[in-house]
Amino acid sequence: MNKTNHFDTAAKTWDNEETIQRNDAFAEAIKKYLPEGVARSFLDFGCGTGLLGRPFAENSKIFLGIDTAEGMLEQFNLRYGPWFQVKSLAINLEKAELDSSYGPFDVVMTAMAFHHLKEPIKMLDRFKRYLAANGLIFIIDLDEEDGTFHPDNQGMGVQHFGFSKAQYEEWANELGLKLIAHEIVYHINKNNRQYGIGMAVLKRFTDLKGHIELSLDSAAPDY
Ligand SMILES: C[S@@+](CC[C@H](N)C(=O)[O-])C[C@H]1O[C@@H](n2cnc3c(N)ncnc32)[C@H](O)[C@@H]1O
Repeated sequence: MNKTNHFDTAAKTWDNEETIQRNDAFAEAIKKYLPEGVARSFLDFGCGTGLLGRPFAENSKIFLGIDTAEGMLEQFNLRYGPWFQVKSLAINLEKAELDSSYGPFDVVMTAMAFHHLKEPIKMLDRFKRYLAANGLIFIIDLDEEDGTFHPDNQGMGVQHFGFSKAQYEEWANELGLKLIAHEIVYHINKNNRQYGIGMAVLKRFTDLKGHIELSLDSAAPDY
């Protein structure tokens, strides 16, 4: 079973007490970096059923959810159907490029999807290109673990056993991004232990012409 099949099968029962609770915690962590009262454009990569977007989609300029699993996007579309500014795209962003009519985005965010990517640094490079000036990237995923989190790594399309802060720092340095924060935003209890979920917050270090960006988002808190 490949990863798309796994998530297509999981889609109808994806929303449960635990996935809702953890996405609420992820959204709260993101909100700290996004002062209220500003309408923004959002890209949610690996959006699943759209749990993460609930506090952001309604008042966004545009909210685009991307996922390979059409079953997940069916649930996403049921959730956000009435809102014209919310769109979904069924594409594999590792293989297909986003149409240039989309973006740039003020916020590019992703929750629990990066560990499914063969080459996460390439996706981060895409995120950088999709980012508006002063935009922010939020990557939320398992903190580095020992491979015991998923019951069937191969069957569930797991490519990485989480990511350390040092890993995000390495990618940031390589891509001309700045890791402005890294924090553990949630814990999942299973297998008689706790797995941390980390959030990396990144922004471009240089503008599109290669000049160092000195000003941080004027609407954002001091980092
Ligand atoms: C663990 S689920 C997380 C869903 C949602 N973000 C949440 O936390 O509830 C990972 C999601 O990433 C999607 N995904 C994995 N690789 C992808 C890719 N290359 N392009 C688009 N979506 C992908 C999967 O289909 C799945 O819906």
